[in-house]
Amino acid sequence: MESFYIVGRNQLNGSVKIDSAKNALLPILAACILINGEVYLKDVPKYNDVVAMTKILTHLGAKISWNDDNLIVNCACLDACDVPDELARVVRSSIFTLGPITARLKKAKVAYPGGCDIGLRPIDIHLAGLRQLGIKVIDKNGYIYTDGEKISSNDVMLSFPSVGATENIMMLAVFAKGQTRIFNPAREPEIVDLQNFLNKCGAKISGAGGNVISVEGVNDLHGCEYKAISDRIEAGTFLIAGAMCGGEIELDGAVSNHNQALLTKLEKTTCKIKCYNDKIILKSIRRPKSFLEVETAVYPGFPTDLQAPMMALACVSDGYSMICENLFEARFKHVGELLKMGGDIRCKNGICIICGKKKIYGADVESTDLRGGASLVLAGLVAEGYTTVKNIEFIDRGYFHLEDKLSSLGASIKRIKSEERLDNYN
Ligand code: EPZ
Repeated sequence: MESFYIVGRNQLNGSVKIDSAKNALLPILAACILINGEVYLKDVPKYNDVVAMTKILTHLGAKISWNDDNLIVNCACLDACDVPDELARVVRSSIFTLGPITARLKKAKVAYPGGCDIGLRPIDIHLAGLRQLGIKVIDKNGYIYTDGEKISSNDVMLSFPSVGATENIMMLAVFAKGQTRIFNPAREPEIVDLQNFLNKCGAKISGAGGNVISVEGVNDLHGCEYKAISDRIEAGTFLIAGAMCGGEIELDGAVSNHNQALLTKLEKTTCKIKCYNDKIILKSIRRPKSFLEVETAVYPGFPTDLQAPMMALACVSDGYSMICENLFEARFKHVGELLKMGGDIRCKNGICIICGKKKIYGADVESTDLRGGASLVLAGLVAEGYTTVKNIEFIDRGYFHLEDKLSSLGASIKRIKSEERLDNYN
């Protein structure tokens, strides 16, 4: 087990490159199951979740290899249609394989998914979508069994714009003869990226990012070379870190259009932000003022994945802030850890009121999930004294070399074995 050891109160100055998006790469890896040929994915960070997906593909019979930061996936010869519990429970995105396995092999047996413990995270919308396309679905003993022999294109209405369900149904429909239309889909940039990837492999999909996605069935897909979009959540995390620590940072590869909701909030904190077509520069010269309120929502609303980092910012901002989490019913586990650092936070019924403090203090804290862990790192960067953030394997799910990037900006942060004595670093 590893921890981050952080000594707080350093400014952040300099530039970092934003990596390819975890939440674009995971559905793209699932989509490789549809493809009868080699896919060459460029600039793929070895996020723990990406590695977990490559293990699932290998189990299915895919050939996987790395060439530096490039990932080569060949699903020409698949010899299994099942994803066992020990592989599925590691990530939420294992459920994204249900559609493509069913579409390609006409049957699937996939265990219930895992992923960050931020709520119940049911899969009913996924299964309803499969059934609307004529798939026989049996949900039994912790596994989903599908029979896709009678798949047929159709109009699919999602009861909620679920990101994963939208992606699963897009992939399932790729080989269904005729036109499938998905109504009330998720509109995240990662959905558009999946459409662009699949179309580069020969699919005929349109409308992603809007309120109806149309999929014209084709007979098969060929390989391609592809680079996923940059990670808007990593970029957002660094922007929030810059607002908290002071200094001037440049995020190379960041797409400002993908972060409009966050940028609007950060402008209220007196940060100076300049957006270019391939980078964002943030300058913070004083203690941030409160952003007042954040309500998480589906895209293009405020992203739930930045709720925890924003709470760290609220803890040190000048004034009161209100944060309302509308997407996941158990996504406040980081609050208890921020209280240990001196945060003044009161929560009730999915709403937190935070009274910003001039100072918070280092402590031994534990990551409870990916973005909650990131919020504790940000708090450690501004806390007085040192902070140990434990269970950082959660953070490694969706940030690659986070400590190296923060160190290159001037932060004092090291990755240590959890059992190491801390006074080695005092
Ligand atoms: C994706 O999860 C992301 N993960 C999450 O990022 C992100 O927080 C989430 O979308 C929302 O933007 C990946 O893309 C791998 P949803 P997903 O289905 O697809 C409910 C991170 O930190 N729901 O849009 O699981 C669900 O419980 C991760 O990078 C159902 O009720 O999210 C939640 O309340 C965390 N039934 C809401 O919808 C279903 O069948 C949104 O979930 C599916 C979802």
